[in-house]
Amino acid sequence: MKKITASAPGKVILFGEHAVVYGAGAIALAINIRSFAAVHTIPEDHLLIRAQNINLSQKIPLKWESLEQQMNQSKALGPILKCCLQIFEKKMPTTGLMLDLWSDLPIGAGLGSSAATSVAILGALNAFFDLNLSHEIISSLAFQAERLVHGTPSGIDNTVSTHGGAIFFKKGLMKPLKLRSEIPILILNTNIERTTGFWVEQVRKSYREHSQVFANLFQSVDKISQKGRYLLERGNLRELGALMNTNQGILEAMGVSTPELSDIITGVRRLDIYGVKITGAGGGGCIIILCDPRKISDTERQLKQIYDIQQTTLSRKGVKIEKTIS
Ligand code: MEV
Repeated sequence: MKKITASAPGKVILFGEHAVVYGAGAIALAINIRSFAAVHTIPEDHLLIRAQNINLSQKIPLKWESLEQQMNQSKALGPILKCCLQIFEKKMPTTGLMLDLWSDLPIGAGLGSSAATSVAILGALNAFFDLNLSHEIISSLAFQAERLVHGTPSGIDNTVSTHGGAIFFKKGLMKPLKLRSEIPILILNTNIERTTGFWVEQVRKSYREHSQVFANLFQSVDKISQKGRYLLERGNLRELGALMNTNQGILEAMGVSTPELSDIITGVRRLDIYGVKITGAGGGGCIIILCDPRKISDTERQLKQIYDIQQTTLSRKGVKIEKTIS
């Protein structure tokens, strides 16, 4: 039995969420927390999808119309089937298939779990059917699945998950960044549920009402990301932290930091750290903290008494094959 297992990393956005949707630069880091997809043949003429993290198990006849219908009807299956159908357009399976999905990333918490899942699925199917798709193609197919989940995404999540490492991203442009040193980050999960699509829409409404004000905020974020890129490549973590705090101020001005988030951030800022901000769409989800690498374990211990917190580092690898059984 042929079986391929692939994985793809989640991400944190160091600078530029929301503004990136309007063309500003942003910086994202792939992290060492991943989503996985395994594919193998089964005797029945079906596509069997099992997604452990969302307790989903669904059997769909391997017919184009049935797959398409499910894609349009089911919110949970939509992006998964979008990935499958884009691959089946290139190669329709001649036997039944089982697609097993699981993830170490929290769902809907700003760490790019949906993009990482799509990229892992595409990575597994790409290898399973020997399609030899480039990273650029995998990322662009994952982007189509992201559009089903988030409406009008910028493409930063699928791009960093596919390529891995640290990237400077602007719509239509991706530059891998060379880091001088490790950049250990603390991720604090507020466990406040939210959806990216909702908060992207909130910012869109505010932008419509106050176009000039918001255009200026986006421009400031663009400047922050450019400066951030320079500091990151030079390993100046202290100044990076200061810029994260400035970016957080702008996210508050955009209205995506709720009172609960702002309270947590104010508390964290009292500790001996370099910077703290929301990562991703805001409204809940995760907060990232940058501090002196020599003090990170101490800070983690202090925060662990109150919060759900973990340390992570950069994942240099994007999508990768974990295991092949032929
Ligand atoms: C999502 O990780 C970041 C947002 O900027 C949306 C996007 O870029 O697609 C909020």
